[in-house]
Amino acid sequence: MTSPKVKLEEVLGPVQSDLERMRAIMIEQLTDASASVRDMTDHISRFRGKQLRGALVLLAGEATGNTTDEHPQVAAIVEMIHLATLVHDDVLDGATVRRRVACVNERWDNQVAVLLGDFLYARAFALSTELSSRLASRVLSDTTRRLCVGEIDQSQRRYDFEMPQETYEAIAGAKTATLYAAACELGARYPGGNEETGRELRALGWELGLSFQIIDDCLDVTGTEEAVGKSVGNDVEDGKVTLPILHVYGRADEATRAAIRDAYTAPGVEGRAARLREVADLAPGVEYALGRAHELIESARRRVGALAPSPARSALDALTSFVLERNW
Ligand code: IPE
Ligand code: IPE
Ligand code: MG
Ligand code: MG
Repeated sequence: MTSPKVKLEEVLGPVQSDLERMRAIMIEQLTDASASVRDMTDHISRFRGKQLRGALVLLAGEATGNTTDEHPQVAAIVEMIHLATLVHDDVLDGATVRRRVACVNERWDNQVAVLLGDFLYARAFALSTELSSRLASRVLSDTTRRLCVGEIDQSQRRYDFEMPQETYEAIAGAKTATLYAAACELGARYPGGNEETGRELRALGWELGLSFQIIDDCLDVTGTEEAVGKSVGNDVEDGKVTLPILHVYGRADEATRAAIRDAYTAPGVEGRAARLREVADLAPGVEYALGRAHELIESARRRVGALAPSPARSALDALTSFVLERNW
């Protein structure tokens, strides 16, 4: 994958000042009286992520003429929920590196990481109760439920090489696209505005989020920890059969299928993703998955095109390219 032509900081220009407000709110919320918690929240704040979900709240607000004073707070809540999912996800996946630093489960341990994730969820939902409308609490609690179901379903489907693409997409959608969809919906209709615009932006967020996860799954087998900034190859280690692999497996002869299964399951294999690349040519699978991501992005782009022209609309359009071209 080539380096993205789209520079994220430039894309987010139209909402830069509200993004700063969002970051300030997050720092305030992550502060706790307990020194050990502060140690951990300092650690996870050391490198900020891309903050795409928070930015989407703000861009969707701007692009639909719906921005309120509370939008940075909604964006902060969305980013905190995202952060909680990452802290928990790294426990589930046994990951060691996130945002270029050690994962909480690696730097401390699983017990602490589970509790820190809970702390972040609690902080996020407590903040949502301070908003003037209950819409964000309602949408985000439903989103969090779906997200957990997505992670549970994924865990139940480990080593399922026969999984239909629809099942893969339902799981990827639940664990990732739901939060993108919620971010866009809330941006467009918080505190309770036009439901139709909310639905349209939600659909846009869903397509963006699903293609984001498909690209992420490609990066897991093609990327390096150095470029992506987090552990890669973990999906194979953990038995997650993602879209590029499903595609290759579905078209492979029986000997290659057996070799793919072995790369995932044979005892004592060091570096399962590397073994997988040795026994099967993953390029057609990656190409197929990128094609699907492309299709979703094209649809998202059509929805963006239907909005009234504005700097935020242009930023949303550029963001769709970033999602497709990103390598981190
Ligand atoms: C990582 O999301 C989790 C997935 C849904 C693949 P991001 O890549 O947006 O994480 P950060 O916030 O930028 O670190
Ligand atoms: C995203 O899936 C999980 C969440 C929604 C938190 P991944 O397990 O692929 O995410 P990364 O690759 O660890 O960031
Ligand atoms: Mg993970
Ligand atoms: Mg991943």
